Amino acid sequence: MSLRQSIGFAGFQGDSWSVPIGRSSRNGSIGIAVVMLVFLFAGPNLRADDLLDRAQSHFGIVPAPDATLVSSAKVELGRALFWDTQISMGGQVSCGSCHLPESGGADPRRFSKRSKGDLTKRNSQTVFNAAYQDELRWLADRPSLQVQASGSLTGSLGHDDEESAEARLVELGYATQLKNVFGDGDDASLTDQFGRAVAAYEKTLTTPADFDRYLSGDENALKTTPRKGLGLFMDIGCVDCHSGLLLGGQQMSVFGVFGDYWTATGSTKVDEGLYAKTKQPEDRYRFRVPMLRNITATAPYFHDGSVDDLSQAVRVMAKVQLDRTLTNSECDAIVQFLNSLTGEVPRNFSPPGGE
Ligand code: HEC
Ligand code: HEC
Repeated sequence: MSLRQSIGFAGFQGDSWSVPIGRSSRNGSIGIAVVMLVFLFAGPNLRADDLLDRAQSHFGIVPAPDATLVSSAKVELGRALFWDTQISMGGQVSCGSCHLPESGGADPRRFSKRSKGDLTKRNSQTVFNAAYQDELRWLADRPSLQVQASGSLTGSLGHDDEESAEARLVELGYATQLKNVFGDGDDASLTDQFGRAVAAYEKTLTTPADFDRYLSGDENALKTTPRKGLGLFMDIGCVDCHSGLLLGGQQMSVFGVFGDYWTATGSTKVDEGLYAKTKQPEDRYRFRVPMLRNITATAPYFHDGSVDDLSQAVRVMAKVQLDRTLTNSECDAIVQFLNSLTGEVPRNFSPPGGE
């Protein structure tokens, strides 16, 4: 199991868009002269430029939702499916029961209640921007949004098998609607089509934030303290794991590089992570590095929701991943930086007709 280091949209990172001076001048002496002039005349601003430049080389800009896609029939159908509790076995639970707007697309409960009444094994993650990850969930064990969504029918939505799920989709009239959207010639199963429509909806759930305005060159989008936090985030090594468009979602890592994570988090149960699946010693306590987009809204934190407070989660990370104790002002600056990653809840993240 390996997550690809660079993802499809890596083009957003650095070279392909907005070219600040330091970056445009790779070739040729004119470029070097420009850099020298900037160095001579920009004075104290140089440090700020440097911060932006470094940030642009590690992170990327989340695009705004595409309005044409949002209003397309396929996305609207996916939206209806996402929010309809009738689809679940007991008629009580929808995707939206565990992925809530007021919790940044995640669940405020440590573990979520599945249709059958039992609890999920791990904490619910946000669906916002999830489309930009190659592999999903804490163990990176779902290869696409479509597979994840189809799988939920017999997972948290409680159906015993695909036939039961498909019978429900037929009964509710969704079979016809899916056929209308995908066309008569499409011979994929109903559960696959369900997954495709829901995935199309999820792809529209992107949340550009202040940090994206900063990355696109508006340095005023981040105030002094969050900028300091951004600098720390890169300097002390958070960025080694949390990088890319989403500041995470690209690789697996051991949780607790410098000590048992559960002593830091107070977790009551020890989850062995990927090891439970592979039985490979190096996979013990290995989880997917989660994205940090909208992190201020998605408490509680970690795979078991063991930490409620973001400052505390940041301290835990610094301690067990980097062997570092943060001062209060360092921790505060990092949290203020993380705050700049929270965007607006997408307007179509609600049941159809509610907008
Ligand atoms: C009972 C609660 C519950 C329901 C219902 C539910 N989810 Fe989730 N969802 C979770 C939990 C918990 C996780 C994390 C699971 C894990 O990693 O082990 C998750 C993970 C995900 C992820 C992965 C996010 C990431 O960053 O990797 C996506 C996408 C997702 N759910 C979409 C959906 C969709 C679409 C539906 C409906 C078809 C749905 N969920 C129904 C609780 C739920
Ligand atoms: C060696 C890799 C690594 C480094 C370095 C690292 N992290 Fe993490 N981070 C992870 C992993 C893995 C998790 C998931 C842990 C779990 O819950 O299983 C995580 C989880 C988090 C979470 C909780 C996310 C959520 O959705 O619950 C936050 C917040 C976070 N990291 C911030 C930071 C900050 C800030 C730094 C720097 C001080 C940092 N991380 C350094 C790998 C890393």
